[in-house]
Amino acid sequence: MKIRGRIFAVDDDELIVTMLARALRSEGYEVHFQTTPQDVVANILSWQPDIVFLDVDLAEEMTGFDILAAIKKEGLEAAVVMLTADDSAESAIKAMKLGAVEYFTKPFNLDEIKIITGNIIENIRRKAEIDYHRKNSCPYFEHGLVGESSLIAEILRKADKLVEAKAETILITGESGSGKEVLARHIHCQRQKAEAVGQGPFFAVNCTALPENLIESELFGHVKGAFTDARSDKKGIFELAAEGTLLLDEIGDMRLDLQSKLLRVLEERKVRRLGGSVDLPVEATVIVTTNKDLKTAAEQGGFRKDLFFRLSAFAVELPPLRERGDDILLLAHHFLRYFANKYLKKGIKGFSDEAERAMMSYDWPGNVRELRNIIERCVVLEEMETITRAHLHLNLAGWAAGELPASSRIILPEEGISLEELEKDLIRQALERTKANQTKAAKLLGISYDTLRYQMKKFDLA
Ligand SMILES: Nc1ncnc2c1ncn2[C@@H]1O[C@H](COP(=O)(O)OP(=O)(O)OP(=O)(O)O)[C@@H](O)[C@H]1O
Ligand SMILES: [Mg+2]
Repeated sequence: MKIRGRIFAVDDDELIVTMLARALRSEGYEVHFQTTPQDVVANILSWQPDIVFLDVDLAEEMTGFDILAAIKKEGLEAAVVMLTADDSAESAIKAMKLGAVEYFTKPFNLDEIKIITGNIIENIRRKAEIDYHRKNSCPYFEHGLVGESSLIAEILRKADKLVEAKAETILITGESGSGKEVLARHIHCQRQKAEAVGQGPFFAVNCTALPENLIESELFGHVKGAFTDARSDKKGIFELAAEGTLLLDEIGDMRLDLQSKLLRVLEERKVRRLGGSVDLPVEATVIVTTNKDLKTAAEQGGFRKDLFFRLSAFAVELPPLRERGDDILLLAHHFLRYFANKYLKKGIKGFSDEAERAMMSYDWPGNVRELRNIIERCVVLEEMETITRAHLHLNLAGWAAGELPASSRIILPEEGISLEELEKDLIRQALERTKANQTKAAKLLGISYDTLRYQMKKFDLA
């Protein structure tokens, strides 16, 4: 029989503990009991129980409450159930205050004890499961933030610092599709892990997607009668986000009058519903994102200067994908695995060298979103084991097979050039960029590993 849980019972009445033990053993629990206060705390701790039953009136010198306080102090996570002959409310309240989960007055009904014990064990298991998931994953993440380039590592370090500092307002800028929301969710998850209390919600609002007349009440809420359609009170998103995170997307396009209201909320950390008369506290981490250049917008009057200054205190700028070097391929392989799995196309194994080079030299105006979409399309449409450059349909101007992409085309100068020097220089650059990873460098140059080794020897670069 499987053991349902471990129980330690303490009562000076031998009859009661043996009865309790017999009843619980018959339910599949492993039970250990003792009737004296001798070494009781140490014994409980070493038995590692899931539940402890404690008699309040165990002994003069050591009551059940003393034991309860002592094992809690030692950090024992077990659920504690108090047993007592005293049915006064004070005693029950004291038990709960000290952290007991249940309280039974004698004489107790054994069937009731069996049911309650079953419930407690189930709650413990469920809580352990939730805690585990909370620690090891974040429910909002489809697949986290992928990136190992030094630029991304730097950004993650900065994000950690902002979490540590409990920054209340964070600005994330970056081109469209560069992963601003992904970073915001990452910060949210780190924050929730650090807080270790409950899982706050993550709310994302696109400031441009809401209709003009609704945006204000969406953000700040309203009270009944604040305007014609306000038939009841409504919480705004600042309130709903509670101790979680509120992401305000496309802040650059927010109306100027709303910008000043937002500034007030961010500065005072208080929000007032439309038509309301009380200020409610704002506890959420507010993350605002934009792909606009807010500084220029602020200079030109399209964005409030004071709000811009406020937001730029904690700002993170995501670099465009084209500047992230090897992350392009890392993400490409990541999305390939992800979509191959999702669309049950396990046959698709990877990219041809040429496809990888094409991805490295493409400039990704739509950033990670574009890369993701392209790979998804390839996985859905192609049946090949290897995805080639042609499958990607990248718009590499003037780059027919075997030709150089326009961006890396070198115009032969009037006075000519030393081809050897040029070759040597390119090899040196490739090695630098790949931190001397010769396999990757060979790929970048479109030559085999052996050819690269040969060239490196020839140019004395080895
Ligand atoms: N580092 C990353 N790792 C994994 N996926 C990413 C990463 N960056 C972006 N993505 C994916 O790319 C897509 C676009 O990301 P996201 O929505 O965060 O971009 P954005 O910067 O907020 O774009 P926009 O400015 O258009 O709102 C999403 O599908 C996201 O899952
Ligand atoms: Mg976004």
